[in-house]
Amino acid sequence: MSEMNRRRLLQAAAAASAFAGVIARAEVANADDERAIEALLARMTLEEKAGQLTLLPDNARAGALAGANPAQQNQTNDTLTEIRAGRIGGLFNGVGAAGGRALQRAAVEDSRLKIPLIFGADIIHGYQTIFPIPLGEASSFEPELAERTARAAAMEASAAGLHWTFAPMVDVARDQRWGRVAEGAGEDPYLGAHFAAARVRGFHGRDIRAADSLLACPKHFAAYGAVAGGMEYSTADIPEQTLRDVHLPPFKAAFDAGALTTMSSFNDIAGVPATANHHLLTDILRDEWGFRGFVVSDYTADEELIAHGYAADGPDAARLSLLAGMDMSMTSGFYMRFLPDLVRNGAVPQHILDESVRRILRIKTRIGLFDNPYRGCDPARERRVMGLRPTLALAREAARKSVVLLKNEGDLLPLQRSARVALIGPFVAGDENQEGPWAFLGTQHDAASIANGIAGALGDASRLTVVKGCNVEQPIAGGVDAAVAAARGADVVIMVVGEGANMSGEAQSRVEIVAPQAQQDLVEAVAATGKPMVVLLRHGRALALHGAVKNARAIMATWFLGSETGVALADILFGAYAPSGRLTVSFPQESGQEPFFYNHRSGGRPQTTEDAEYKSRYREVTNEPLFAFGHGLTYTKFEYGPVQLSGDAMAWDGELTATATVRNTGSRAGEEVVQFYIHDRVASITQPVRKLKGYNKITLAPGETKTVSFTLKRADLEFTGPEMVRNAEPGTFDVWISPSAVTGEAKSFELRR
Ligand code: NOJ
Repeated sequence: MSEMNRRRLLQAAAAASAFAGVIARAEVANADDERAIEALLARMTLEEKAGQLTLLPDNARAGALAGANPAQQNQTNDTLTEIRAGRIGGLFNGVGAAGGRALQRAAVEDSRLKIPLIFGADIIHGYQTIFPIPLGEASSFEPELAERTARAAAMEASAAGLHWTFAPMVDVARDQRWGRVAEGAGEDPYLGAHFAAARVRGFHGRDIRAADSLLACPKHFAAYGAVAGGMEYSTADIPEQTLRDVHLPPFKAAFDAGALTTMSSFNDIAGVPATANHHLLTDILRDEWGFRGFVVSDYTADEELIAHGYAADGPDAARLSLLAGMDMSMTSGFYMRFLPDLVRNGAVPQHILDESVRRILRIKTRIGLFDNPYRGCDPARERRVMGLRPTLALAREAARKSVVLLKNEGDLLPLQRSARVALIGPFVAGDENQEGPWAFLGTQHDAASIANGIAGALGDASRLTVVKGCNVEQPIAGGVDAAVAAARGADVVIMVVGEGANMSGEAQSRVEIVAPQAQQDLVEAVAATGKPMVVLLRHGRALALHGAVKNARAIMATWFLGSETGVALADILFGAYAPSGRLTVSFPQESGQEPFFYNHRSGGRPQTTEDAEYKSRYREVTNEPLFAFGHGLTYTKFEYGPVQLSGDAMAWDGELTATATVRNTGSRAGEEVVQFYIHDRVASITQPVRKLKGYNKITLAPGETKTVSFTLKRADLEFTGPEMVRNAEPGTFDVWISPSAVTGEAKSFELRR
């Protein structure tokens, strides 16, 4: 601990007041820290302790972020009064350096113990400069890119007085009806773990005490992505093996990367709500993994224990949550209201309350708040760092790398700059649907609009006709006719269709994951002109594509790309940049196939294409994905050589290397994401038909061949067995080196004990 930090803590303990704005590096939770924290704890009343465990919405500064959550009953008389009384430990979703300074001043000058507040917010894919939604960004298969965008988001957000972001969202999402798919890295735990760790590193930066660092909060712990039927806020019924092997790995990776907080999820797991789940929050998180940070509830998740039918009333909910290991209550005010009496009447042991308070004081110490409570509250820096040129360049890079070319019949793309283009659909101009969910603070600008991006690339605006054609969910009178006329006068049609920004994200589960009918009708009418058509999908999840959308000659997944949407898309459409993204969610044939993911288990009667009777399938469609996990094309083609193994067996403590060549057979350079999958043929808990175990993004010049290798150890073959212990079992394994989760020829080897 720094001398300065120790002094601050001791000053707080002694109710001293003056603060100097010095930031010092410190070892965390060393003996000096701990002594200072104990000294402070010894002076705290039960009310002040409960206050440290209380996080409330910043009603005064919420602005645009107020819409991020349902309105809640006002839990406070007046925020400043409560801060001065020591009844609040932190505020969230308020932004602004000057306002933050005023609130912090009330805490560190006017409250009895002068403990600084922590300021949090949902900074999910950018603050003012908006990057692609995390699902889009994951298509880059470049965690290092996500690290850089998280760093840039932290730089902007921290200048608005924030210390803490409720991100990354690391839920593995296997059901595309669930709207929150947009916020995570997709359906794969291995890739999800890499992105989780990268985003934590990016938010934290090199030093979590630095003025431009944001404390990360991987969420939602845990299994929120497993909600039944993909329905938001629903329940999760999963076996512990699925919890451990599918839903927990990204969290473990985030904590290993240094994350010091996590948010308990709204859902239950097999009847025990996560927010009061001792097995999850204490046995696994602390006892097994050694997590030393704190757990914050999701918004009113402690209060919701009553609706779950798990707690009888408010005091019961507060007691169950604290005893389970949930340290900080968000929004409900339950801890502030009920914990002091619960301790007084013996329902909650004081040492458990104290331990949660310690955890929060440790983190406040660790991020340097006692050294410099006004960290980030500098209006001059706030003005200086927003939307800087390098940040926008990064947004453009990230947007380009997030796009996935799904289909390109007859090499329709890239387009000629001399083409006459009809740009049609409800998303052609810059509007509120450009940046996607969780972009409340984004500042729109011209580069975001697709029409502007394409006009810029064409050079001559007279060759571009822009027609909206319909609204997101409703027709426009005369819209279809105008669109058809525009298509007739063009060489090529670019249709931008899909979901509005408010159709994915929180509380946006869908029954049918399709383009709304008004848009489908528009595409059918335009397609009937026979003009070549490029479909740009706008979406926060994988979609089920139908009719003329599905049959378009070229289709690109473009998600919500953020501040540089238009220019990034023009870069790709006209060939300045060759698409390099690969899907991290499987596209089904139909909505009714969800949950639909590549790494499912086989079942006893798996369908093969030759033999479909009495097999595991639906009447109407094939089990093949329309577009598979890992799929994505570019402007050249690649050829994979057969997989070579370093041996036909792997010794128990040995290694095995799989190698394949990849050749660029086309005439321009391109990037390929070479993927490595395994399958454990026979196991005491049946294993997925394939599991991603590696990937390597390579660039190949025309005609160039590269050799790509992946090495396996026994640990890579482990899974959670019947006794909840991770182990590998001897036997036969298949491996693939392939361009997607459903292609390639398998090679096999034996693991021998
Ligand atoms: C509820 C959401 O589930 C969570 O992700 C978010 O961080 C909180 N609201 C706070 O806004």
